This record gives sequence, structure tokens and C-alpha cells, in this order.
Amino acid sequence: MSRRLLVTSALPYANGPLHIGHLLEYIQCDIWVRYQRLAGNQCQWVWADDAHGTPIMLRAEAEGITPEALIARVKTEHERDIAGFLLSPDNFHTTHSDENCEISRDIYQRLKAAGHIVTRTISQLYDQERDMFLPDRYVKGECPNCGTEDQYGDNCENCSATYDATDLVNPISQVSGSAPVKRDSEQYFFALGNFTAMLREWTRSGTLQPEIANKLNEWLESGLQDWDISRNAPYFGFEIPDAPGKYFYVWLDAPIGYMASHRHLAERTGEDWQAAWQPGSDVELYHFIGKDIANFHGLFWPAMLEGAGFRKPNGVFCHGFLTVDGQKMSKSRGTSITVDTWLQHLDAESLRYYFAAKLSPSVVDMNLNLDDYVTRVNADLVGKVVNIASRCAGFITKRFDGRLAAVWPEGQRADYEHLVGARHMIMDYYEEREFGKAMREIMVLAEHANTWINDAEPWVLIKDPERAAEVQGICTVGLNYFRVIATYLAPVLPELAAKTEAFLNTRLSLKELETPLVDHAIERYVPMMTRIDPVQVEKVLEATRNAAPPPTVALASANTLAVEALSDEITIEDFQKVDLRVARIIEAKPVDGADKLIELTLDIGLETRTVFAGIKAAYAPEDLVGRHTVMVANLKPRKMRFGVSSGMVLAAGPGGSELFVLTPDEGATPGMRVK
Ligand code: MSP
Ligand code: ZN
Repeated sequence: MSRRLLVTSALPYANGPLHIGHLLEYIQCDIWVRYQRLAGNQCQWVWADDAHGTPIMLRAEAEGITPEALIARVKTEHERDIAGFLLSPDNFHTTHSDENCEISRDIYQRLKAAGHIVTRTISQLYDQERDMFLPDRYVKGECPNCGTEDQYGDNCENCSATYDATDLVNPISQVSGSAPVKRDSEQYFFALGNFTAMLREWTRSGTLQPEIANKLNEWLESGLQDWDISRNAPYFGFEIPDAPGKYFYVWLDAPIGYMASHRHLAERTGEDWQAAWQPGSDVELYHFIGKDIANFHGLFWPAMLEGAGFRKPNGVFCHGFLTVDGQKMSKSRGTSITVDTWLQHLDAESLRYYFAAKLSPSVVDMNLNLDDYVTRVNADLVGKVVNIASRCAGFITKRFDGRLAAVWPEGQRADYEHLVGARHMIMDYYEEREFGKAMREIMVLAEHANTWINDAEPWVLIKDPERAAEVQGICTVGLNYFRVIATYLAPVLPELAAKTEAFLNTRLSLKELETPLVDHAIERYVPMMTRIDPVQVEKVLEATRNAAPPPTVALASANTLAVEALSDEITIEDFQKVDLRVARIIEAKPVDGADKLIELTLDIGLETRTVFAGIKAAYAPEDLVGRHTVMVANLKPRKMRFGVSSGMVLAAGPGGSELFVLTPDEGATPGMRVK
């Protein structure tokens, strides 16, 4: 019995280009969907652009165009990228559509009728210059808890406190630079708490990965708050029925966009889309998402569906974030690579394969190591897979008139059956989203095929005219191995699969593998894949760096002289890796032969450290002795010409004589951790 599946991937915001981080999700989803189709299941992938919200409204304004024009342009760009990466959605729609408006209002009305919508007057920050309420991310000020400046309206990066934007001290609107005022307005809330019991059960029923269920459990334990689903005008979105000037918050109508895209698709296919969304439907519903939006898909969305009388998803498949060469993607480092830039210098299938080789069903982050990418693609795809075809094809074309052997060579049955039998395990891996394991298994088979051809040595035998038939047999077996492997890889490498179909003059399907191709005409072989040259990767990084906008200078400090651009943001976990300690300088002396360095001996409580600091232009050694400062205590020791430096002392300023060693307030003692 073939299964029916409805699959979604998260809807990208329609205010910017797709990048390779997005691709991690979309490639994972595409491989799974293509696998389902290969396995004979009916699988539809519905997808769209997420077109609403304040950032899109402001972005359009900044460009001097309407939001409608912006989202139309971005949609065309996204569609180009989707095609470029061989992604195979059945429909790519937009949340700014008639279908979505109608379904969103319908769901809202159902929730309201069932008593799940409540209204309340709340106070929010209002920008009087721009006549708009400010979302949390559009206001900055001092943390009400610790006083750190330049913090967003939702939480403090310094002390991790969470608060309301109205609690910020000296708030500044990031839209106009003016000081906002507090203003009351009535808002509409979804009573999420009504669904606590259902969510406790549902999140633990195998629909979520355990890590995600645990995370969401923290929310459930601390009590679910009502969720504000309305925004005041001006806003780019759908107006709430019977509430003039109020709009649905973008995250209300975004997941409903899955349904709307399905409905839009049904106009073409004629299917009964609504049936799939009824409770008890036998259509399996799955969402591929990133870990950053797990609460929307694991709490809010199932509650909305339940409250409005629709079915809930069978599974939410969460993935981690992509890093590039170990770093969070950043434009200035050249690692925030857009899909467009990638495709100008590299191809889609190599990245699809690399991601597949590293993907598992877990939520851990994935690193794209660019050296490893080049090595692995060249070794596996060019060296192992395509190599099988290129070594066998020439003989068939040149010596046997393009025809495979009339009968399968004797004694070759068992090996072939072993290869075909491996499909069960490989398809199971695909089903479980264990793509890395599937790729490893396939590569073992490809290695086996190569070894077999090596041992058979058709290029030696061909010199003996009496053994020609044997050569035709060997190449027939080799090309059949290739056919099997290309079929197994088809969900990952759809273009290679298509080229293989053209070359072998056949359709790739799992069922047909049982019968090897014999007595069959094939086409002339054209190279299917070429080695990646590391220069291509360099070009991608360079193009990305050049596309980066000039570094911005923070408003608040623009009046001071030497201001460095702010670094990319890091997580609190990143920061906690740095072990900062209060240190007392017990000795400071010049270093022979190094006119910039001072050799410091530091007391950090449990031990003393030697550090070579480049501060001689700013300090006389004797002035430093006895002083307290702050050091990085877990920095990997560095061997220098004069000895080993075990740590680093903190100082501010551009360098040279303009350096200011940091000192803690009185009372701090050596060894205290700085946090
Ligand atoms: N518009 C929302 C999703 C609405 S779904 C009803 C959104 N858009 S997004 O453009 O920010 O992200 C789209 C998807 O890409 C999300 O699942 C997100 O997790 C994923 N990724 C964005 N950057 C990513 C990486 N660097 N790495 C991996 N996935 C990333 O969220
Ligand atoms: Zn704080």
C-alpha cells in the first residue's frame, strides 16, 4: 500500500536572498521527498514565501517600493534558487495570497467561536515620529536588570534577563532614532494555555525529537502564556475581521501558509485538499524546520490546528544550524554565502551530496568545512561513483557498437544480487533521515564495484581479440553496478540520475533493478561530473566578502574617535567558553630583543602565569607591578621566540601607545572568574 504524505519546509522570509544555511533545510527536505517518491509513495511538498511582518514593510520602504513589489521580486529570486538547487516542491506559493487570507480568517473565527481568543489592553512602545508601535527588535536601551547599554527590547545579552520593551531604560527607536513613548492599545491573544494537556501528550508521542520535546517541556512546565496574535497598523499582513486597524501577527498566518499552498496546488491537481486536514486523515503530515522555530511548530501550531478542529502533524523534523569553516555565517568573513553566489562558481549536486553525507536526524549544528567538501566530493562522486561509468563506457561504445552483452556473464549473479539487496537497508536509512549512513553504505558499494573492475582489468583483456566477449561482459556488469548506485543516489543527485537515464537509455526505478540490463543499446558517454578546483571555493568566498556592506558604526558611540565595527554576535555559550580571571601582576620586565613586549608574571589565585603582552609602547614595566587586571586564562599557550605565553591580558584601544589595560574595581582578588 502506498502511503500518502504531505511535507512542508519552513517558509523563507521574502525580504532577502536564500543562503546556504537555508539550503541545509531545503536540501534535507528535498532528499526525503524524492526518496518517498522513489519508494513509490505519493508525496507532496508544499512550500511558500513568508511575506508578512514589520521587517518586510520597512525594507520595502527603505527601497522606495511597495511591499507587494518587494515580495514579488524576492519570490522570483527564490524560485530561481529553488530551480538552481534542484529542489522539487510541488508548489511554491506566498503567504500574501487570497487562499491564505481566507483560511487564516477562517481559523481565527473558529478559534474565537471556541473561546480561545481573548482581548486585553497592553502598553507598548510607540514611535511618534514614524507613527508606529515598535516590535521588540526595533528598540534598544539599557537593560532594566544590569544597566548594560544598547540592548534589544526582549532580553539582555549581558545578564540574559528577559523583560518587556517598556521596561528598557532610555529606549531609542531603531526606526527613527527618537525616544518612543508608552501607549495603550487593545490586542488579541490566543489562549495557548487551554491546550496544555493536549500538548503535554502530543509532544511526547513520538512526533518530536527527544531534545526538542525536552526543550518545549520547559515551556509547558513554566505555564503557557497567552500569545499575542495581533499587531497595530501600519503593518504588512492581513487585517483581523471585525477589528479595523488590527492585523494578524506574521507568525499566525505563516504556518497557515502551508495549508494555503496545498489549497493552491489542489486547484491544479483537482484533489480534495481539505480532506487531508481533517482529524483522522490518513495523509501523513510532516514539517521540516530549524531548531530556532521549534516552539512555533511544536506548541503554537498544533494548538491552533486542534483549536480550529483540524488534524495535527505526524512529525516535526528539526535540524541544527549550519556553520561554515567552524564559524557562524558572516558576510565580512565571506561565509554568508547566498545561493546565487554559490551557483556562479560551484554546482548544486556537490553541496547536496556533502550535506547528505553529514546529515542525521539529530538537531546538532552542522559544519561545512570547505576543504573537506572539496576532498570528499572529488573522492566520492568523481573518484568512486562516476568513475565506474567512465571506465566501462568507452569499450562498449567503441568496440561493441554501443550494445551491452546479450546475456549476463556467468558467475556474476551473486555479487549483483548483493548490491540490489542492499536497497532495503539504504531505503530504511533514507526513511529515518539517516542520510549520512545511507551515503556511507552506497560508497562502500561503489568501492566494491571499482575494486571488481580493477581486478577484472578489461583494459588488459581488450588487447587480446579472443577475449573481446569477456570484456563486453565485464563492462556490462560494471555499467549495471553503476545503474544501481545511481538509483540509490537519485534522491540526492537527481541530475546525475537524469544523465544516467539518458546514457543507459532506461528509467531508473527500484523495482527494475532486479533485472539487470543486457542486450540493450546505450548512448555515448559524456562526462557526468568534474572535479572541484579549490579556486572555485576561493571565488565564492571572495564574491561574498565583496558583496558585504561597509561595517556600521553604532549610533551611541559615533562621537568617540577610534570606533571599531561590532563583531558578529555570539551565543552566551560561546562567551562562556572564555575563562576570564582577575590577575595580579607580580612581576613585569622588558624582553630582550622585543621592543613592543613586556613579560608579565601573573598571580591568578591557584597558579602563576607568564604572559608576553604587547603593551610596552603604552606602559613602563615598573608601573604595572602590583596592579590587578583581567586575563584570558584558558587561551591555548603560544610558543614565542622568547618563551611560552600562557594567556592574554585585556586592554582596550587601537594599539601602540593608545592602549589601556583593564583593571577591576577594588575588592576583586586574583583568581576570581569574570563573567
Ligand atoms: N519565516 C520563518 C519560518 C516560517 S514557517 C511557517 C523563518 N524564516 S527564515 O528565512 O528565517 O528561515 C527559514 C528556515 O531556514 C528556518 O527553518 C531556519 O531555521 C532555517 N535556517 C536559516 N538559517 C539557517 C542556518 N544558518 N542553518 C540552518 N538552517 C537555517 O524562520
Ligand atoms: Zn542585563
